[in-house]
Amino acid sequence: MLIELQINNELWEMEIEPGTILIDLLRESGFASVKDGCREGECGACTVHVNGKPMNSCLLLAAQVDGCVVTTVEGLGNPDFPHVLQEAFVECGAVQCGFCIPGKIMSAKALLDKNPDPSDAEIKQGLSGNLCRCTGYVKQVEAVKLAASRLRKAGLKKGRKQ
Ligand code: FES
Ligand code: FES
Repeated sequence: MLIELQINNELWEMEIEPGTILIDLLRESGFASVKDGCREGECGACTVHVNGKPMNSCLLLAAQVDGCVVTTVEGLGNPDFPHVLQEAFVECGAVQCGFCIPGKIMSAKALLDKNPDPSDAEIKQGLSGNLCRCTGYVKQVEAVKLAASRLRKAGLKKGRKQ
């Protein structure tokens, strides 16, 4: 079957088997940030945004995202132009092996889109679906707080200019 979707601002038309899982489609299409952990919806390593909402790509059929906007962490930023969250994770030393980080950043982005000034408890809750086997949770919460405060400041500056 043929599906059409937007991945990181680019339109893709793909011929797929009806049973293709989204995580496989993304990884086979070169989006290596989408990590293959448990394939059971438990670890969160495969988290991407579908129409702006964080979802486990291992639990979705590719056919279910026909016509949708899919964003992976590559769509947020890259080493030359990192997203504020990506910068904050590096600066806070919140990245250890890095396996969980793409999914974690996508969950953090979804949290900050909804709640620009989350408490520690709200950050922990927002990241609770993303397991880290390096147990770097404290620094990851600090990173999300730092990114949130930078995004709020940037928002204020933008507001003043208008
Ligand atoms: S690989 Fe999807 S939740 Fe673990
Ligand atoms: S940094 Fe290693 S699994 Fe999270």
